[in-house]
Amino acid sequence: MEKILLKNISKTFDLATEQKVLDNLNLEIASGEMLAITGVSGSGKSTLLYILGLLDHDFEGEYYIDDKSIQSLSDKELSLYRSKSVGFVYQDFNLIKELSAIDNVAMSLKINNLVLDRRSRLSRKEIYEKSTETLEKLGLKDHMKKHPGQLSGGQQQRVAIARSIVKKPDMILADEPTGALDRKTSADIMNCLLGLNDEGMTIIIVTHDNEIAGKCRRKVKLVDGVLV
Ligand SMILES: Nc1ncnc2c1ncn2[C@@H]1O[C@H](COP(=O)(O)OP(=O)(O)OP(=O)(O)O)[C@@H](O)[C@H]1O
Ligand SMILES: [Mg+2]
Repeated sequence: MEKILLKNISKTFDLATEQKVLDNLNLEIASGEMLAITGVSGSGKSTLLYILGLLDHDFEGEYYIDDKSIQSLSDKELSLYRSKSVGFVYQDFNLIKELSAIDNVAMSLKINNLVLDRRSRLSRKEIYEKSTETLEKLGLKDHMKKHPGQLSGGQQQRVAIARSIVKKPDMILADEPTGALDRKTSADIMNCLLGLNDEGMTIIIVTHDNEIAGKCRRKVKLVDGVLV
């Protein structure tokens, strides 16, 4: 993936009031960018992130990936793209609490396997090798067998990041990734995301924390449905 282009994107939830959460919004994101999206609560940051991550295709306007309109892709192509190219990280980690750290990470690859054709699927051995390697890279070597309830918030968020990067996506979309963490742990998580960006991964972070936004290489703010 080289770039993403959003052109004149509008989004309305309530057709009765026709209040536009996004109103002819334009955004271009080049591969390898580290972008912060800020804005007050309710300004539409998560809405924009879901559209960027192709979780929501119910919007007006145009969305291009490498000059190709997503409207021209079939549902199957879209889900393949989403599952291969986009990793999500959430404020509350969203780990499966019944599974160990390594099984949470492995789950991402198992789900990915479902949309891959037979030849590209990973074996169980490969899945666990990749999951181990990724958790080790994020400093979780000694915590792989623990369940989320046995990990600190920062460790859980690193497991969540491992889960999103294990499939080597082109971009990570993070919705308030440090929102539930203290300052020091937030800084650790940001360093981790900056390191991934140094390796070439596109990273988009929604945050209302100016300190976090300040660490990103580019900042935009959502105001009245557009980016300023
Ligand atoms: N599924 C939905 N149905 C109806 N309205 C929605 C829905 N999702 C979001 N909205 C509305 O759209 C607006 C933008 O919501 P969104 O969640 O994108 O804001 P946000 O900037 O992420 O806020 P926060 O910082 O609190 O997470 C809000 O007014 C919200 O009430
Ligand atoms: Mg939100």
